[in-house]
Amino acid sequence: MMDPHPRMMRAVVIPRYGEADVLEIRELPVPRVQDREVLVKVAAAGLNRADILQRRGRYPAPPGSPAEVPGLELAGEVVTAAPDAARFLPGDRVFGITGGGAQAGFVAVDERQLARIPKRLGWAEAAAVPEAYITAHDALVTQADFREGDRVLINAAGSGVGVAAIQIIRALGGMSFGSSRTARKVERCLSIGMDAGIVLSGDPSPLVDAVSKWTAGAGVDIVLDLVGGPYVGVGVTCLARRGRLICIGTIAGREATIPLGQLLAKRLRVFGTVLRSRSTEEKAGVVSAFEADLLPLLQGGALRPIVDAALPVERVVDAHRLLESDSTFGKVILTFD
Ligand SMILES: NC(=O)c1ccc[n+]([C@@H]2O[C@H](COP(=O)([O-])OP(=O)(O)OC[C@H]3O[C@@H](n4cnc5c(N)ncnc54)[C@H](OP(=O)(O)O)[C@@H]3O)[C@@H](O)[C@H]2O)c1
Repeated sequence: MMDPHPRMMRAVVIPRYGEADVLEIRELPVPRVQDREVLVKVAAAGLNRADILQRRGRYPAPPGSPAEVPGLELAGEVVTAAPDAARFLPGDRVFGITGGGAQAGFVAVDERQLARIPKRLGWAEAAAVPEAYITAHDALVTQADFREGDRVLINAAGSGVGVAAIQIIRALGGMSFGSSRTARKVERCLSIGMDAGIVLSGDPSPLVDAVSKWTAGAGVDIVLDLVGGPYVGVGVTCLARRGRLICIGTIAGREATIPLGQLLAKRLRVFGTVLRSRSTEEKAGVVSAFEADLLPLLQGGALRPIVDAALPVERVVDAHRLLESDSTFGKVILTFD
């Protein structure tokens, strides 16, 4: 039986900034629950680019999150809850998002940032859901006003967020097109429902002709830009009249040149998003939209989380190196006993 009052836990720690080998596994005290928090025994936790940036000293934890223990998403079992937390009972299987601290044996999370895991998902699959599917759903549906029939271009289509977006777009009746620098990833994206794709060498300009061909000259309604840099200006060129481009990541560069004539003439919207630094109330909002729109699709199997690799937490250094290699398709997950 699970100890109801565990005192110590293993956690991934960033003791100083640097390459993957700075990471350590340490014994730390189990966090205490505060207002509306639930203590979750973590079974699996997703790895994200944000963890790599945090390890390099370029993405500090937001206020209220542990500075040294990374981890933005988790799947696990409820152990205990604060007196004013009422959504879950001990033993419930939950997954969700947090500002940090999830790559540990236990994490305390506001109950509104958690949802119940559909029965069909194992721990690693469940941990592959929160960041990728919530980010993609919030960007597409809540912020970019996705409608049935919309055509969406996804740059870095084989990423964790990219493959989630492909599945969501298909389930909601849209069309997806995507780019990757890896031919194998484009093939795999096509096999999970992407309508067409292109392999790029690093220069995104061939996207303009490809999108024109795929959409018979109309352009796409939405660009889900996961990479930034030169992809943003090219994405604007790929948009149809009244199209929306949402910047989600800057892995290819933090600056962009945008053809403003097109922005005006096509009446476009270009905007950005981030999940981690949002308030608890805002995170509660995205989680409840996710529960309403996506949980039934996960339950029914229309959305199938893709795990590239699930490694025991002792191999966190390998996990970081794997994600940094750009060779993964879907998510990298850390598992706990
Ligand atoms: N705003 C938010 O709240 C939020 C939340 C989650 C993720 N993100 C961001 O969204 C992006 C995707 O995240 P993820 O976890 O899904 O990523 P991921 O699984 O790590 O995949 C990222 C992929 O991007 C491609 N890539 C890497 N460097 C590139 C470059 N210089 N130019 C073009 N493509 C490049 C690589 O694929 P190929 O080499 O095959 O092209 C790589 O596999 C990241 O930028 C991440 O930081 C933002």
